[in-house]
Amino acid sequence: MVKMPTMRSIVILISGRGSNMEAIVRAAQTENWPVSIAAVISNRSDSPGLDFARQQGIATAVVANRDYSSREQFDEALRTSIDGFSPDLVVLAGFLRILTTPFVDHYAGRLLNIHPSLLPSFPGMATHRQALAAGVKLHGATVHFVTPDLDHGPIVAQAAVPVLDTDSEDTLAARVLEQEHRIFPRAVRWFIEGKLSLNAGRVRIDASAEQV
Ligand code: GRF
Repeated sequence: MVKMPTMRSIVILISGRGSNMEAIVRAAQTENWPVSIAAVISNRSDSPGLDFARQQGIATAVVANRDYSSREQFDEALRTSIDGFSPDLVVLAGFLRILTTPFVDHYAGRLLNIHPSLLPSFPGMATHRQALAAGVKLHGATVHFVTPDLDHGPIVAQAAVPVLDTDSEDTLAARVLEQEHRIFPRAVRWFIEGKLSLNAGRVRIDASAEQV
């Protein structure tokens, strides 16, 4: 008898363009993942990524941070919205908000983020500018589990790109983004397939997981 894979459900959070979300949705479709993309949620109603999600027939929601007077209140509203979809995994795909500890703890071990640098180098914003200023020869992207310590959670996958003498922030960002679109869908797929987990703060990736 053929064992059917367990169907998982994910919610993806975005703040803007949503190209990482799009890469995940397209990979799920073309590779036929056992997944339901339950919703795409943005903290901005004008996120272009919401249009793509709607076109794909994915439920969308907006929880606008400007409607809340405190970080705590916003995170609580966001949590209520997310939990309405009962996801197994929450994916931060260009979600540009610092999250409170209670929020992060609520999703411990099932909250993934993509960060446009080779962590632990260059946490925070303007990572490509930071990389150019530091004069590094390699830059890149990191997928990690989210912990309360901003941009310092356990690392799941990384991809490096060269930094060229001729690079501007834009050319470097484009080179890194290409890698984000490659490693983030891979990592999400590992989780969906039960091949990626976080145990006592350590990342475990099954030996059968297709490498990035
Ligand atoms: C990506 O570079 C992501 O790593 C960073 O913000 C950018 C968002 O791009 N946090 P997109 O919305 O996924 O197109």
